[in-house]
Amino acid sequence: MSKTPITVAYGDGIGPEIMRAVLQILEAGGAQLEPEVIEIGESVYLRGHTSGIEESAWESLRRTKVFLKAPITTPQGGGYKSLNVTVRKTLGLYANVRPVQSFEPFVTTKHKSIDLVIVRENEEDLYAGIEYQQTDEVTMALKLISKPGTERIVRYAFEFARRNGRKKVTCISKDNILKITDGLFHRMFDEIGAEYPELQKEHMIVDIGAARLAEMPERFDVILAPNLYGDILSDIAAEIAGSVGLAGSANVGDDCAMFEAVHGSAPDIAGKGVANPSGLLQGAILMLVHIGQPEAAARIKNAWLKTLEDGIHTPDIYDERVSQKKVGTAEFAQAVIERLGQLPERLRPARFGEASKEPMVPLMVRNSKPAKKELVGIDVFFNWRGTKPEELAQLLEPLSTDKLKLTLITNRGVKVWPGGFPETFRTDHWRGRFMAQNGTPNHHDIVELLGKIAAAGMDFIKTEHLYNFDGKPGYSLGQGQ
Ligand code: NAI
Ligand code: MG
Repeated sequence: MSKTPITVAYGDGIGPEIMRAVLQILEAGGAQLEPEVIEIGESVYLRGHTSGIEESAWESLRRTKVFLKAPITTPQGGGYKSLNVTVRKTLGLYANVRPVQSFEPFVTTKHKSIDLVIVRENEEDLYAGIEYQQTDEVTMALKLISKPGTERIVRYAFEFARRNGRKKVTCISKDNILKITDGLFHRMFDEIGAEYPELQKEHMIVDIGAARLAEMPERFDVILAPNLYGDILSDIAAEIAGSVGLAGSANVGDDCAMFEAVHGSAPDIAGKGVANPSGLLQGAILMLVHIGQPEAAARIKNAWLKTLEDGIHTPDIYDERVSQKKVGTAEFAQAVIERLGQLPERLRPARFGEASKEPMVPLMVRNSKPAKKELVGIDVFFNWRGTKPEELAQLLEPLSTDKLKLTLITNRGVKVWPGGFPETFRTDHWRGRFMAQNGTPNHHDIVELLGKIAAAGMDFIKTEHLYNFDGKPGYSLGQGQ
């Protein structure tokens, strides 16, 4: 087998110690790798690169397309950008894959047989980071869920399940409330899921999904979630499995992938030779599967499981009731290397599916015909300090044009005119919905309406066009409408 070039960064704090240990295990375990070392993190930040990475490092990453990264220290204080977010977005690493396992009774946990994988969308949702303050009283963030972004992560989850011998994919969303954004996520899960008849599929609303994960993690296999829910669920899963120090993660895109531990650079124990290299090793095992070396991945994982079983433990998981020997980083790595070729006796031995060289299925949304898009109205948001919706309606109704007519006023999404209740709390952020009349309006009709609004001295702060797509409304109703 020819060697696969990878880019390696030793990182900060405990990074160099655990990276050395992991590379030794990989080499002894028969992984065919050709590491190229780049420098990232604290030293680069402090040399004045606010992103923590130099141009030359990008060159290596774009060439090898595989990044094994030790944790880094992000200096405190303003002006420094998170290197993780920079690398993720720059390289298009849209899937965050975090397997969580329990190792009972060797690592103490309440749950005996957790073996699940969280596949989290990594670029969209509220993490697009588009936020505004619009009035004294109201702030807003955009939750972006795109069709291609969703299709990619949904396909990734199903392909991951299929290629790794998983049985079930659970989709998490909140589409009872977010019918358009999370509704799209859920719908694409159903649509694409139909192409994977061999896999069980289920959907859960995030609240009950999180509750079940905390109480019955054993019932989950692959969990697919948009960015924010996936972030929260990952921490729940890792925490209940016993220790974040044992978990690794993969950030995967179409071209590139980054593998790392879940934990940080642990400055409190850096340089002492006691850090647990297991989290980074888990990341490296995911990397081996990703680059098509599943046998080496399984050999290393099984030796590592046997080491845990034999009670050879670093201080973070040492417990005198179950541990046999307390070891440091290097000695732990040595113990894993000595067990290469062995299988665990009580923990389930790892087996990884033959990593498919098959590329991901091309995105169908990119090939589908665009829907017929029809402008049917406009929402105009106002900063208005009054309190009575009827007064606002009196100001806005005369501004209706021949093509666009005021039909609804809401405050924080709740209908307050026509009708409405005095009990409804109101902020200084109001929405007037103007719907089409006398035929389909165009951009000029919208400009005419906004011109009248401006001339009347109303402070409009934001607009949203209302479209039908193939006859179906692409906007939500006001609550109570
Ligand atoms: P941390 O994960 O580095 O440490 C939290 C606690 O866990 C510490 O007590 C530490 O000693 C312990 N710990 C972590 N990994 C361990 C291991 N392998 N073996 C034994 N004990 C371990 O989190 P913290 O202290 O909040 O962050 C430290 C630095 O790491 C910060 O600069 C932070 O920005 C950075 N960080 C980097 C990440 C990355 O590069 N992916 C991820 C998270 C944090
Ligand atoms: Mg998180």
